[in-house]
Amino acid sequence: MNETERYAEARTAVAEARSVVAFTGAGISAESGVPTYRSAGGLWRNYQAEDLATVGAFQRDPETVWGWYSERRSMMGSCEPNAGHLALAALEERLGDEFVLVTQNIDALHHRAGSRRVMEIHGNAFRTVCSVCDYEVEGLQYDTPKSTICPSCGAWLRPDVVWFGEPLDQALLNRAFAAAAACDLFLSIGSSLLVQPAASLPEVALSSGARIIEVNMEPTWLTPEASWSFQGPAGEVLPALVG
Ligand code: APR
Repeated sequence: MNETERYAEARTAVAEARSVVAFTGAGISAESGVPTYRSAGGLWRNYQAEDLATVGAFQRDPETVWGWYSERRSMMGSCEPNAGHLALAALEERLGDEFVLVTQNIDALHHRAGSRRVMEIHGNAFRTVCSVCDYEVEGLQYDTPKSTICPSCGAWLRPDVVWFGEPLDQALLNRAFAAAAACDLFLSIGSSLLVQPAASLPEVALSSGARIIEVNMEPTWLTPEASWSFQGPAGEVLPALVG
């Protein structure tokens, strides 16, 4: 089957799907200028994750961790959603409640592209929460350490992201797994599928009989299992699939 036929087949699968789960990783934001983690130029190629993205790192040196997330916030805030984000927002528009977007990304670009039915299972870098009590605030600017002390209990405030070794929001994760088990089409987009428990979502979809479309720049363990796998930039492939 040639490329045109593969695209036509996958496009029909998207058009005929009764319920769709789109699962995204850092790759969908690469064309917007947000670095990925593990591919060329990825964050973990230049930083030690355990020095910046763990509770231990934050307890040892909250100012360095805050400085890094503050840099990432302004970088991500200056990026724009790309055609891949917009294609998923259009798919949600078309499918309504039969569409769920589960993202590992913390850059809020899906929201800015217009997606509303979004599960941010690794959190959102622009939201700030207290490391002890349930105080939460959107868009707090980190300028001095003083600005990151909880006004209600005096503990450190932190970015509302899931750090290595931390548990994910179990209720949110259960909803994501339930959606993956119920869908008939699962799109895996821009993820190396190496980090658990997120990387088990495609497995649940597969074992529940869903068809899989993968869009990634390089093969993953899912590639041989996918009904269609497209190795190319999400910003080009997704618009061609969603139509
Ligand atoms: N279009 C599609 N895929 C792309 C693009 C692109 N333009 N650019 C890169 N990719 C692919 C890469 O080939 C890579 O396989 O995106 C994938 C990104 O993989 P990772 O960098 O590992 O990112 P991700 O899978 O989202 O990581 C999961 O790991 O560090 C933690 O919490 C962090 O949420 C993150 C999790």
